[in-house]
Amino acid sequence: MTAKIIAEQATKKLFIGFNWKMNPSSLFDAKKLFEIYTIANFERKDNGSSNFSPVLFVPSLYFSFLQSHNPSNIKLGAQDISNKEGGALTGQISSLMLASIDCKYSLVGHSETVKEYQLNTDKVRDKMAQAFENDIIPILCISGLVDIWTKLGRVFDDRIIDLIQKKSNQNFGTKRQPLFVVAFEPTANIGTGQALNQSSIQKNLTEIEEFLKSKNIFKETDPVSGHWVGQYISIYGGSVNSDNIKELSKIESVDGFLLGGASLNAEQIQNIFRL
Ligand code: PGA
Repeated sequence: MTAKIIAEQATKKLFIGFNWKMNPSSLFDAKKLFEIYTIANFERKDNGSSNFSPVLFVPSLYFSFLQSHNPSNIKLGAQDISNKEGGALTGQISSLMLASIDCKYSLVGHSETVKEYQLNTDKVRDKMAQAFENDIIPILCISGLVDIWTKLGRVFDDRIIDLIQKKSNQNFGTKRQPLFVVAFEPTANIGTGQALNQSSIQKNLTEIEEFLKSKNIFKETDPVSGHWVGQYISIYGGSVNSDNIKELSKIESVDGFLLGGASLNAEQIQNIFRL
């Protein structure tokens, strides 16, 4: 049993999202921050470490610059996506626009975005649909589990389920990666320095898993390679840092993390890339 657990942990590949939020305040500083990631990523590759897959969620304004000055080929994503395809929506960025600059990931429904723009669940669902329509992997952020089944039921309506099933069929037999990511991010733990306790994280992720299973959507990891072969993966966010990340990664249902504060700190970044 112990050997089995160790073997599973050794091969578990983690998705680690670094959410820069509205930072840093200039392109000059963004380049400096990106350089820290670039060096850490080169070192990681030199060490042959493929334990995790990093994705940087940067302000869209910096995306193109960083993407075209990206010597270590680190993956980049956006922090939000419009719920509409285009038109008279001042200030919005569509998934078509993001796809056209080769953006492959976007956060969807982060609690800070939801709160600031007073987004309802239908809009979050439409953002998710926009991402799917344009081959962007949405990282759906779920902040609280009050009435989770009702909330998830609103996001995963017939159209979304249909899009997921179609995408699964298209991906069949090809190199698989998750079609979407569910990020459990309790607001009470974001930016506080205090991560949620492990059993609560597991309990909440199990609940999400149960819901998705009821819609025939599954997560699965190849026991040998540790690669994700199911339709989605689930991650945790809320005060994750280099001190607690190893412990938290032992949680059975955790396939990765979304980090905010730690993503702006050089020492934290370097330590995490040495995982
Ligand atoms: P935190 O932020 O790591 O600073 O708690 C996480 C997030 O908001 O994604």
